[in-house]
Amino acid sequence: MAQYRSSLLLPEDRLLKIRDDFIKEAQAGLRGENSSCLMMASMMDVLPNGEETGDFFAVDIGGTNFRVILVSLSESRGEVARFEMEDFAIPEEYFSCHADRLFDLLADSLVSFAKRHGFSGKKTAPVGFCFSFPVNQTAVDAGTMIKLTKKFDNEGFVGCDPVQMLQQAIQRFKAPFKVVALLNDSVGTLAGACYEDPNAKVGVILGTGTNACYVEQVAKIGTLAKGATSRPRMVVNTEWGNFTAASLPITQADREMDETTPNAGEYHFEKMVSGMYMGEVARRIILQLAEDAQLFGPSVPDELRVPWALSTPALSKIAEDDSWVLSGTAQILADDLHLPASRCTYSACSTVKEVCLMVSRRSAALVAACLAGLLRHIGRDGSHGGMQATTVAVDGGLFEHFDAYRGFLRDYLDLLLTPEVSAMVQLKRIRDASSMGSAYLAAAVTASPE
Ligand code: GLC
Repeated sequence: MAQYRSSLLLPEDRLLKIRDDFIKEAQAGLRGENSSCLMMASMMDVLPNGEETGDFFAVDIGGTNFRVILVSLSESRGEVARFEMEDFAIPEEYFSCHADRLFDLLADSLVSFAKRHGFSGKKTAPVGFCFSFPVNQTAVDAGTMIKLTKKFDNEGFVGCDPVQMLQQAIQRFKAPFKVVALLNDSVGTLAGACYEDPNAKVGVILGTGTNACYVEQVAKIGTLAKGATSRPRMVVNTEWGNFTAASLPITQADREMDETTPNAGEYHFEKMVSGMYMGEVARRIILQLAEDAQLFGPSVPDELRVPWALSTPALSKIAEDDSWVLSGTAQILADDLHLPASRCTYSACSTVKEVCLMVSRRSAALVAACLAGLLRHIGRDGSHGGMQATTVAVDGGLFEHFDAYRGFLRDYLDLLLTPEVSAMVQLKRIRDASSMGSAYLAAAVTASPE
């Protein structure tokens, strides 16, 4: 256990090193040099300001579900006159089918959603497409998919233009929609926040995967073709999920889990941080402790060997368990991992809880370090003098549903920023921000096509 405490609980100096390494990687990526952070120009140089009007749809895919929404923006500034939303589970086979089938599923769901909500279809409706993968964007509504991440392992994606693919699928249904904006979920989150908060400068996703984007000066984006925009600022998608540096605390459990993922060898930061992986990392550590320290008695329960058996929602419940003699933890071990109740002693449960807490704290600490780096890079950490209120808009299930995690993230940010700066940085939970932001951006793009 001592070994895990020292590798998972990161002291301040280590976090500052990670922060500085992240800044170096981010700045190299921005200059177009070889870097683990792709720092991709989003082509989003106009953010919604609450003055857009009309009916806008958004299709949002990238986690365990996908979502379709309809937003009607009325004449009175910033007012949403109508909002409809439906979530669809992605059937298991769609994580590995050909891309065409997945796009058909999206188009079909959009069309039937619109019908269900009485959309007349007389006029072509603009659609914002929130596509939560790395895409090399060449225009607001065009780009080339670079790679798949998270659980997706489909053929036909890499190298495709997601806008064309979705538009063609929509045409197969002869439906009156035009995909006008393509954006990453982090960008959608920032756009959703900008709609109501002018201090929003950074968007962060803490869900199945993790990512961050921020508003950058166009002159600093080395990868952007000259003349690509006449506006001074553009949102940059860091793809920090792929951040890597020698300072990252990658353990044996992380390495072994990584080998079982579709994108082995990549996205190490995401695999230490996000909801898809935290439960599995904890399960592997618990298994190791069962083998080395007889955590559950002389033999190791076979149930503990089942990959992905401990989900991150279960991990979060264990980390927050304050029930008498940790009966809540014993119950989860019995229900989710099917461990026999006789094996779940108080001492075993308290070790399991400590592992879940350490994995959660490590995730929050790493996010805080990179966020502190991003704030420093954009001059919002007080290091360049002057302090401005900054809103960091956050979306994703990990942040939304795991209360203790939000507390850990705040604590680590307080540790890494000065008290004056930390007081000026607000972590704002914006529910459904990425989908809402995609519809708002579809609106903003339609209103100002330049
Ligand atoms: C993965 C994707 C990234 C996305 C993030 C959160 O890291 O590569 O584009 O923003 O997950 O969904």
